[in-house]
Amino acid sequence: MRLAGKKIVLGLTGGVACYKIAELTRALGKVGATVQVVMTDAATHFITPVTMQALSGNTVYTDQWDARIHNNMPHIDLTRDADAIVIAPCSTDFIYKLAHGACNDLLSTLCVARPAHLPLLVAPAMNVEMWQNPATQRNVAQIRADGIQVLGPAAGDQACGETGMGRMLEPDQLLTEIIASFQAKSLSGKHVLLTAGPTFEPIDPVRGITNLSSGKMGYAIARAAWEAGAIVTLVSGPTALDTPYDVRRIQVQTAQQMHDAVMAQLQLHKQDVFVAVAAVADWRVANASEQKLKKTSDTDTPQLQFAQNPDILAAVAAMPDAPYCVGFAAESENLLQYGAAKRLKKNVPLLVGNIGHHTFGRDENELVLFDASGHTALPRADKQTLALQLVAEISLRLALPH
Ligand code: C5P
Repeated sequence: MRLAGKKIVLGLTGGVACYKIAELTRALGKVGATVQVVMTDAATHFITPVTMQALSGNTVYTDQWDARIHNNMPHIDLTRDADAIVIAPCSTDFIYKLAHGACNDLLSTLCVARPAHLPLLVAPAMNVEMWQNPATQRNVAQIRADGIQVLGPAAGDQACGETGMGRMLEPDQLLTEIIASFQAKSLSGKHVLLTAGPTFEPIDPVRGITNLSSGKMGYAIARAAWEAGAIVTLVSGPTALDTPYDVRRIQVQTAQQMHDAVMAQLQLHKQDVFVAVAAVADWRVANASEQKLKKTSDTDTPQLQFAQNPDILAAVAAMPDAPYCVGFAAESENLLQYGAAKRLKKNVPLLVGNIGHHTFGRDENELVLFDASGHTALPRADKQTLALQLVAEISLRLALPH
């Protein structure tokens, strides 16, 4: 319920993408938001106010002369208890209106009349040529300069049959952006690199050694860091999870590949924070077979030999210009004692401890944070909530001299 108690004024303008806003309206409701729909006349040609009223559960307004508002001022009253205005889809014409402060229908008037502190987010949706048109680009630059947040657009196939920039973001992406707009930008512009998931160490071409890490905690931290304004790169072992929106994901299999990918990223761009969440295999099979191992008799068993993998976290922490390093420790007992000891051993400013078999694959977890001044417990919660708390804790420590 990330938007519990929030009221979103959802403005629809003319565009085929209106059909996707039915989905967004439901999604906003599912995360706790109250949705007040306002439509331009053009929008009502693409989707009916009846549909939008049924999905939002609230009266839909389309007309600035609507007498159902007691003082007959819908352009004022509809935004006074709102937490954000979202215009989706936002047409070329509506961007023009916003850029020029037009007030010739309810939605445009309501935007101009919004309280100065009320965030306005727009999701452009238009043909590629309309998007690229210099007049549109001038207007987009103007509304950005005026503090309006422009979500997308994305590139791809368009309803008109052409291809390029101008597609509206998908409803789940818009929801992610809207949720993020309410988060403090405590990592604004910072580069955050993470490892997540298990590693997979081959025994032969069809078998390997892995572990029960699902990647959920690391992916949740990647998303939380992005919500806090960071530029996020996620080096991930094999997982079934979708890449978090707007996060760059580098897929690896083995610990060595994970190590190499992390080092390459550090070469490519200076990172401010490194969070090692992955459950990295300590050992790889030194005598992995090129061909599938065959069962030759009832008694023979393969003799596997092991070699130690590089410790990625320790290697990064030991670099001369190391980012702020956060390690994880999955223990099965004595968390307070082992966690504090592991922080010192890995030489990192912050170590996050959890009980491995209480968290692997689950949606919930509880964390203990170890730093130079002791430990702090983050009580049991879903992983996304914990990720947000952890990112806030990292941001606080990053702001201090370290
Ligand atoms: O020593 P241990 O495996 O318990 O340390 C866990 C921490 O170190 C985690 O943050 C994990 O991602 C990281 N790690 C690593 N490379 C390894 C082993 C662990 O980065 N080879």
